[in-house]
Amino acid sequence: MEITPSILTADFCRLGETIEEAVDAGIKWLHMDVMDGNWVTNRTITFGPALVRSVRERVGNDIIIDCHLMITNAEETWHQFVDAGADMVIAHFEAVQDFPSLITSIRESGTKVGCVLNPDTPAELVFDLLPELDLVLVMSVVPGKGGQSFMPEVEGKVRLFRSEINKQIQTGGRETKLMIDGGVKDYNAKLVADWGVDIAVVGSGLINNQASIRENLESITRAL
Ligand code: DX5
Ligand code: ZN
Repeated sequence: MEITPSILTADFCRLGETIEEAVDAGIKWLHMDVMDGNWVTNRTITFGPALVRSVRERVGNDIIIDCHLMITNAEETWHQFVDAGADMVIAHFEAVQDFPSLITSIRESGTKVGCVLNPDTPAELVFDLLPELDLVLVMSVVPGKGGQSFMPEVEGKVRLFRSEINKQIQTGGRETKLMIDGGVKDYNAKLVADWGVDIAVVGSGLINNQASIRENLESITRAL
């Protein structure tokens, strides 16, 4: 299972150093949590395309950057994040009116596309989109901030997606990646890996004041 840091809990005045520390520790993928102060229930504002551009300029082109869009108008603004250097746009199923046409537009731009579900959104609502998705993201916290407690009740949904995606791959379909996001730490990383997750977003479990990113990544890797 691959680990990708969410930079949400980082000190934004030291973001460049933090990201370089992550890359030096072996991180190949960065997860950028975009919130517009409207869509998430606690009305958080994080950052926009300008920060994504700075991060892309700092890390170069070999690191994957995804943008997790927790915003009301992803259908109108997703291209700003692509222009800023995102490799993948992950939009919320609950925030998008016409997901199939969003997938088409994003794919036409040469960018990968993911669909993310809040903890209480049933997996079945996304099944017909799966063949067209590069990634499906199951939230294991209510979107809005880092450092929240992991929600084990999403196990059934993760396992359901795992079996749907396995069937899709076995019949020659797209190798849609399965990602989880929220509350993942060294003590539950093995649990979610056993559920069949391909990539886990880790924010406060990687970027915190207790240990270095390398030490935190090593303890997660040992757990796996
Ligand atoms: C929450 C974000 C998550 C979060 C993860 O709205 O989508 O990516 O930052 O942080 P931790 O791992 O601390 O829950
Ligand atoms: Zn996220």
